[in-house]
Amino acid sequence: MQTKHFHIYCNEYQWDELPEDFKDLLNQSSEAQAKAYAPYSNFKVGTAILLEDGTVFTGSNQENVAFPSGICAERVAIFACKAHHPELKIKMIAITAGSEEFDVKTTLAPCGACRQAMLEYEVMQEDSIKLLLKGADRQVIEFLSVADLLPLPFKCDALQNISGINN
Ligand code: THU
Repeated sequence: MQTKHFHIYCNEYQWDELPEDFKDLLNQSSEAQAKAYAPYSNFKVGTAILLEDGTVFTGSNQENVAFPSGICAERVAIFACKAHHPELKIKMIAITAGSEEFDVKTTLAPCGACRQAMLEYEVMQEDSIKLLLKGADRQVIEFLSVADLLPLPFKCDALQNISGINN
């Protein structure tokens, strides 16, 4: 038996020490967050995605009375982004969260399904995507790659009969 360790690195910033382009993307995420449709959880999430040509796509969580039919902010934003610009690489994704009903004390870490969805495009573009996660206290955590948030991911090389797609 061998014990293995996975190391994850991230950078933690106070708001005032953030580079301007980080602040800008996080602010756009907060604007998107305000437009979330979250009447059931009262938990609003925003996402802003910066593409290589400078275009920004935003999204927010969209809930539904049939709960599983709702979708997270990250996937709203990334699917819309890729539907419009499949050819452009994603540089950076900012994610913010909060509630008007209760205090959100922890930084939102994207759910597993959203990590998987974001990783798909990172693998495809063969270039890492930076992630910015904003906490309630205006602290921001930066991950240099989506892969850092999803060790041992499911990749398409597990699907024997798929060819021509990076894995
Ligand atoms: N949510 C997101 O939008 N992103 C995540 O990464 C986790 C959760 C949303 C889904 C649902 O509308 C609400 O937050 C509560 O789970």
